[in-house]
Amino acid sequence: MTEYGVKKVLITEEEIKAKIEEYGKILAEEYRDRNPLFVGILKGSFIFMADIVRATQIPCEIDFMSASSYYNGTVSTGNVKIKMDLNTDLNGRDVIIAEDIIDTGNTLFAVKKLFLQRGAKSVKIVTFLDKPDRRVADISPDYALFTIPDEFVIGYGLDCAEKYRNLKYIGVYEEE
Ligand code: IMP
Ligand code: MG
Repeated sequence: MTEYGVKKVLITEEEIKAKIEEYGKILAEEYRDRNPLFVGILKGSFIFMADIVRATQIPCEIDFMSASSYYNGTVSTGNVKIKMDLNTDLNGRDVIIAEDIIDTGNTLFAVKKLFLQRGAKSVKIVTFLDKPDRRVADISPDYALFTIPDEFVIGYGLDCAEKYRNLKYIGVYEEE
């Protein structure tokens, strides 16, 4: 049984849980003793953020920002419009950006550049979903839990016109 608006289930709740555990252990291994700062890009990352930090059982800190990129047609200018900024000084920090999905890559291209300009020691990207077919910007995630085809997906934080963020699975959106 799928909800209204869902054409098919692409990734089940069980598959999500298993991947989160796997990647939490990988991050804990890599970032042990480095007190990383997880940065979630709102709103889409809020559920992934809550799950991945609980699977990464090491000392860490958490912050959020809301950002969108400017681009000319399909070409990223590398500039980012910040709607809500971090409260954390990035100087010398090991930053892990937690994102719901990398699509064109414009947003993360700009955010990563900004964080390095602010003095971060390292910036890595962990994305829940990767949609590489649509990539425009020169960026790839350091960790991608699932790689998906070029379909519009909803659930687990991802929306269509602000709906469906609370689905427990990833579904393909059914267009009318
Ligand atoms: P981009 O990588 O700069 O194109 O932007 C990625 C953002 O676009 C994500 O953080 C999502 O908010 C949104 N997005 C991209 N693809 C999808 C999708 O299939 N479903 C829902 N939101 C998406
Ligand atoms: Mg997003």
